[in-house]
Amino acid sequence: MSFVIASQLEPALNEAIARHPSRPKVIVAPVDDPWTIATEADALIVRPTPAWRQAPRDHVPDGWPGRLRWVFTSSAGVDFYPKWLLDAPVVSCARGTASEEIADYVIAAIYARAKDMAAAAAHGPADWRYTELGQVVGSTIGVIGLGAIGTAVARRATALGARVVAVRRSGTAKIGVIGVDVLPSVADVVGKADHIVIAVPATPQTRHLFDRDLLAGVKPGAHLINIARGSVVDQDALLGALDAGQLSFATLDVTDPEPLPAGHPLYSHPKVLLTPHISASYTLARGKLLDKILTDITRVAYGQQPVDVVDRLRGY
Ligand SMILES: NC(=O)c1ccc[n+]([C@@H]2O[C@H](COP(=O)([O-])OP(=O)(O)OC[C@H]3O[C@@H](n4cnc5c(N)ncnc54)[C@H](OP(=O)(O)O)[C@@H]3O)[C@@H](O)[C@H]2O)c1
Repeated sequence: MSFVIASQLEPALNEAIARHPSRPKVIVAPVDDPWTIATEADALIVRPTPAWRQAPRDHVPDGWPGRLRWVFTSSAGVDFYPKWLLDAPVVSCARGTASEEIADYVIAAIYARAKDMAAAAAHGPADWRYTELGQVVGSTIGVIGLGAIGTAVARRATALGARVVAVRRSGTAKIGVIGVDVLPSVADVVGKADHIVIAVPATPQTRHLFDRDLLAGVKPGAHLINIARGSVVDQDALLGALDAGQLSFATLDVTDPEPLPAGHPLYSHPKVLLTPHISASYTLARGKLLDKILTDITRVAYGQQPVDVVDRLRGY
């Protein structure tokens, strides 16, 4: 009997998955209630569609997790889904499929601040004047969360001559990037960094981690970059820190909610650059996601765990 995979992905990816050497049967998960397919499938590949926002939150739906042995989320974070998604025997995620590209976005944001060439551009002889540009070399980049994305940022930043200070949940053990100082607390990191990069998952522990108190302790004039989740930052506190000059600028790829309502001050604030959750987008993204899914199908077919299993208690 073939392994049945229910998928929320687009037809081209489903066809490619069906061509896996183990010849799984790929069926399309229902648009409105994708979780109901649990009684018919061995695996479920999900993506953050509106149906999951409307899924029951206060109770586990009948028939969940049913016959499922494995759920794969096509995003790195699992915060979009109801908690009971993690009741499936194994849930794994797309961690790492866009971390290098997101790190490129972060570095672009850092250089855009340090070397604001658009502001210095000469449009005529009157603009031919000396402008002092900032430096990335010698600056301190603070990385909050040293997982796939944080590590990719740290690797680039050290290569560029910046000092990297970082923090992770599990302590100060060294990571595989030479020159990164892993500090005991988030407060230690934000007090030293010229550019603060948020790369932690959205969990109960990280909700509004960047609140008024933490923002009051950032190095004066620091630049905040959030490519993780909007809920990690208290947006009112952020606006206060920008207006007070505690932060000089914020580059935000994520907000809470998404999108923000029309007229929200973060859209028009002169010290904010907001992008619509696109730091993970790149031309070959679907191919990298497919590669990861095919690798995981092979592992599951051989009775192994998929890579990047989500820890139910940690929530990432
Ligand atoms: N903008 C986008 O399009 C986009 C794309 C991908 C991901 N994301 C977001 O970015 C997040 C990070 O992605 P990733 O792939 O790098 O995840 P990851 O590999 O799971 O890394 C998460 C890191 O955060 C650390 N961490 C967790 N809770 C913490 C806490 N309370 N205090 C300090 N550090 C904490 C973890 O510490 P340990 O090392 O000790 O476990 C780990 O180093 C995702 O969860 C997702 O929400 C956004």
